[in-house]
Amino acid sequence: MIGTPFSATAKRVMLLGAGELGKEVVIELQRFGIEVIAVDRYENAPAMQVADRAYVVQMTEAEALREVIAKENPHIVVPEVEAIATDVLLEVEAQGKQVVPSAKAVHITMNRAAIRKLAAEALSLATSPFKVVESWQQCLQALETIGYPCVIKPVMSSSGKGQSIVRSESELKAAWDYALSGGRTAADVIIVEGFIDFDFEITLLTVSHRDGISFCPPIGHRQEEGDYRESWQPQALTETVERKAQQLAKSIVTELGGYGLFGVELFIKGDEVYFNEVSPRPHDTGMVTLISQNLSEFSLHVRALLGLPIAEITLKQPSASAALLVEGESSQVVFSHLDQALAVPESDLKLFGKPGVSGRRRMGVALAQGANIEEACERACLVRDRVNVIL
Ligand SMILES: Nc1ncnc2c1ncn2[C@@H]1O[C@H](COP(=O)(O)OP(=O)(O)O)[C@@H](O)[C@H]1O
Ligand SMILES: [Mg+2]
Repeated sequence: MIGTPFSATAKRVMLLGAGELGKEVVIELQRFGIEVIAVDRYENAPAMQVADRAYVVQMTEAEALREVIAKENPHIVVPEVEAIATDVLLEVEAQGKQVVPSAKAVHITMNRAAIRKLAAEALSLATSPFKVVESWQQCLQALETIGYPCVIKPVMSSSGKGQSIVRSESELKAAWDYALSGGRTAADVIIVEGFIDFDFEITLLTVSHRDGISFCPPIGHRQEEGDYRESWQPQALTETVERKAQQLAKSIVTELGGYGLFGVELFIKGDEVYFNEVSPRPHDTGMVTLISQNLSEFSLHVRALLGLPIAEITLKQPSASAALLVEGESSQVVFSHLDQALAVPESDLKLFGKPGVSGRRRMGVALAQGANIEEACERACLVRDRVNVIL
């Protein structure tokens, strides 16, 4: 049942995190007549621009988060970023509110050590070898078994922050210091992972909804310096790999619990499928679904969290996305040459409306369909490259 917004029957949903992925979630919620409240750390965040009300709150501060939830009293709380005081989500869920997909899923997935332990130890899923370490001494010890090359990451970070590939001992100290400085919290817990020399990596968007679990066709992607650059769909998989990938995704999503869409990140090498990490929410590489599928990942997330059915997920055509990254300093970015960009056949462009850039920031995404993924990728990249950015 869904009532009338701004009335006694309104269904209210609060988004914690109001970036570009949240913006699309808000739009899909609005299409069902939901009253939406967006919260983020800064003003004029993308999802705030389309929500009914917005609040600027430090979501890592438990008391501030408790206050805004108490004030708005939403029926459903949808975390859209990792940096949230997840203890508050556990409290809120215990009080009877729906946390999407579940407070446990959000709490565990924000911590690489916790999700890896669940995947590798409790569920026996294949992952890269790893050790969680809390001192330089322990790090050196971990390397004795893991060896080089390895990947060093803070247990709480995203978008590649604090993360480096270490090829030899001479690079280890710098990577260690970088990991310590790049974590979200002061706690210096670091994960050391064996490097998987994968053939390719995929995101398997997996929806847990009232009638069961559904999968989107696999999405391939290319990462560079902690950011995804291009993604495409479908990424071809052998039957064996597809079956393994779906089984793995199903077991982790079922264990995490709750209704919603999850982005399951997997490394594929030959017939082997390794679990990397999972987002309990739409995934950045999944923006390609804005053009590729009958229901985008955002629409699937919203259907699942509202307890609505998902009859079928169909791929319309091979498609691709290319992230529009902007580098520099500005609070009045202008995008031009849009006529030339959008002259590319079967293409689209989303500009997120972010209030500023300081360093490198994803400000938009180019989308395209094609006869095959090569053509789709070429077109999406062409759209992105034709956009002229004035800082
Ligand atoms: N153990 C690993 N072996 C090989 N590549 C890795 C490994 N860990 C991370 N990567 C590469 O770095 C990217 C980002 O790492 P990830 O753990 O997903 O961090 P983030 O939370 O920043 O997305 C991955 O998508 C993959 O390309
Ligand atoms: Mg990742």
